[in-house]
Amino acid sequence: MPITTADKPKKILLLNGPNLNLLGERQPEIYGQTTLPEIIALVRQRVAQADRGLEVEDFQSNHEGHLIDFIQARRKQTCGIIINPGALTHSSIALRDCLAALDGVPIIEVHLSNIYAREEFRHHSYIAPIARGQITGFGPKGYLLGLEALLDLI
Ligand code: DQA
Repeated sequence: MPITTADKPKKILLLNGPNLNLLGERQPEIYGQTTLPEIIALVRQRVAQADRGLEVEDFQSNHEGHLIDFIQARRKQTCGIIINPGALTHSSIALRDCLAALDGVPIIEVHLSNIYAREEFRHHSYIAPIARGQITGFGPKGYLLGLEALLDLI
């Protein structure tokens, strides 16, 4: 059967790793005052405005395996991913492998803080080599910058 536009994956996953549920209260001098629900609302608003028939599904977890299960369950419907993996950026080969298994789905890695201007252990990302790009240091705006890049790619 020919693949029609109707069959094309339409989901953008907006994923956040450990401790990002605390945005707004957690170290505001580093991560700012904006909460995660506010960031999600901004991303949803921009996707709706783009009017491309895309839908956003957001998920935050403090558990590596829960993130992996969530991504795996949506492999066939996903056309792009914006992910702030939090500390899993610097530790998780399992999350990287799961994202790499998505085969061609563009992945944008986002960090609120500039990870290269912080402690040395934050300078290495396991995710960066399998991402299309990384946006780091622009606070909540980074998610929107990532989204613009993603909209151009899908
Ligand atoms: C972070 C940077 C990580 O090093 C840290 O562990 C986080 C947040 C950021 O958005 O700046 O939890 O991903």
